[in-house]
Amino acid sequence: MIAIASDHAGLPLKRHLVAYLEKLGHQILDLGVDEDRSVDYPDFAHDLAGRVAAGEAGRGILICGTGLGMSMAANRHPGVRAALCHDAYTAEMARRHNDANVLCMGARVLGPGVAEQVTTVFLTTAFDGGRHRRRVNKIEPDSGEES
Ligand code: RB5
Repeated sequence: MIAIASDHAGLPLKRHLVAYLEKLGHQILDLGVDEDRSVDYPDFAHDLAGRVAAGEAGRGILICGTGLGMSMAANRHPGVRAALCHDAYTAEMARRHNDANVLCMGARVLGPGVAEQVTTVFLTTAFDGGRHRRRVNKIEPDSGEES
C-alpha cells in the first residue's frame, strides 16, 4: 500500500500521480487534500507519516509547493525517513543509502514527467544495506548504535 497526500499547492500533481500509480497497478491510500482549498501542509504530513510509522502503508508520497514543509513535518515521526527528491539520482540514493520510506516532492519544482520518473525510481530501488544499515539506524536519536 502506498499512501499519498498533498496540500493545495500539490493537489494537481497528486491527482496526476494517483492516476499514474493506479495505472501501474499500485494500491493507493489517498489521504487528501481532495478539493482546491487552502490547507496547512503539516496536517497532511503528520497524518501520512503516522500511518507509515504504524505500518498501515509501506511507503508514502507527500507533495507540497516545494516539498520542504512536508519533509520537515514527516521527519518528526520516529521510524519515518522522508526524503525530498528533485530528480532520479536523489530518489535512487534516498532508497539505496537512506532507506527512505516517504518521498517528498515539490509541485512548484518538478513537472509531471520528472515527478513520474522520481516516483518510479523511488518505488523500485532497493536499500543497499551493509554499512548503510548502521548509519540509518543512527538516524534515530535513541538508537543505542555505537560508532
Ligand atoms: C504553500 O504556499 C507552500 O508554503 C507549501 O505548499 C509548501 O511549499 C511548504 O513547504
